[in-house]
Amino acid sequence: MDSLSIEGGIPLHGEVTISGAKNAVLPIMAATLLTAEPCIIRRVPDLSDVKFMAQILTSLGAEVKLEGNTLEVRAARIKGVGDYDLIRKMRGSICIMGPLLGRLRQATVSLPGGCIIGARPINLHLKGFAALGAEIKVEGGYVHAKAERLTGADLFLGGRAGSTVLGTANVMMAATLADGVTVIESAACEPEVVDVANFLIAMGAKITGAGSPTITITGVKELHGADHEVIPDRIEAATYALAAAATNGEVKILGARPDHLSAVFDKMRDAGVRITRHGAALTVSRGGDLKSVDVTTLPYSGFPTDAQAQMMVLMALTPGISIITERIFESRFMHVSELARLGAEIDIEGPSAIVKGGRPLSGAPVMASDLRASAALVIAGLAARGTTQVNRVYHLDRGYENIDGKLRQLGARVARVEET
Ligand code: EPZ
Repeated sequence: MDSLSIEGGIPLHGEVTISGAKNAVLPIMAATLLTAEPCIIRRVPDLSDVKFMAQILTSLGAEVKLEGNTLEVRAARIKGVGDYDLIRKMRGSICIMGPLLGRLRQATVSLPGGCIIGARPINLHLKGFAALGAEIKVEGGYVHAKAERLTGADLFLGGRAGSTVLGTANVMMAATLADGVTVIESAACEPEVVDVANFLIAMGAKITGAGSPTITITGVKELHGADHEVIPDRIEAATYALAAAATNGEVKILGARPDHLSAVFDKMRDAGVRITRHGAALTVSRGGDLKSVDVTTLPYSGFPTDAQAQMMVLMALTPGISIITERIFESRFMHVSELARLGAEIDIEGPSAIVKGGRPLSGAPVMASDLRASAALVIAGLAARGTTQVNRVYHLDRGYENIDGKLRQLGARVARVEET
């Protein structure tokens, strides 16, 4: 397994261009199953999760062509059973259920594994499908959904941690081909859900309210192909912005959507980071001494859970106490023990991490765990004195396109070490 060797203590300087959003492109790729006509998706990030989803679509019978950052999918004839092993490996694959149910009135996928950040149940997805008339059966590690007819319904998708992002996308996709009107209350408002809705509308779906807690879908007979450009990845942008602040550098971020980053930038500004806009470009640097701030993760438009670990690194470098509370996932502090190996002082009290910041970090070998925890370790390594080896870099390649190349472009001394 490859690792990244990082020589820290070098402020990042230069420009970085943000790639397409992983958490938009995965459900959008699934949505291509809703039509037999060809779909073109642009600004597709070069990620292992995208390659996985392409394999899943192919295993369902779709023709998939990925050339650079443009993807062409034609799901002319497809089957309703996904490849058990492939689907089990990537949580995001659950979002093929809605399109298969909508197109074929039946879907069988392997129950997505939990992962290191939590149990990751799909009860809300299944509740939505059942509300549309599907019969759900879970056996042998598979979940089967079958519906003679799919009928529009009013349903509430709020769960213990608020809304569900992929659950909203999944049910919305199934509802596009149901008979009648579906109203989803407590829908997720994330920009990625809006991007999926915009792709579906381009395919001929009738959807209003995406981006608000109430989404209304009026079913149609069939959908046609579409050509869509994926939104930029707000979490990748947040990661580079926090890396710029953590290394006391100055980085120009190109191609991001600042309106998707309000909560992150608000907290960073409170922490003393200067973020300025020139047209579509954002420039991030420190505006003086850093100040410790408290952060609580929330559904959009609150502070995103996917930027929590990265923000914790900035707080570990900031003199004072900051409390970081994770309200979306039950165990998303895997990065804490690894950050401690670099000298960070962080105590966990239930859903909160108490960060006693200000001690300088020093390099050490660390182990990546989930995607965003790994990104946090990279930022910490960039800010630490000495060399940090981040092992199991495949976690990073799932969600960050060419991360070592983009960091080198910013002056970082990062090398990808192939494991012999
Ligand atoms: C999406 O996961 C993202 N992944 C996650 O990003 C992101 O952290 C998450 O949304 C929250 O924003 C993709 O889009 C591929 P949820 P998703 O359903 O949709 C509970 C990353 O690092 N829940 O919004 O699976 C769940 O346990 C990844 O890019 C239920 O209880 O997340 C969690 O506590 C990590 N029942 C909360 O809701 C359900 O049926 C939010 O989960 C579904 C979810």
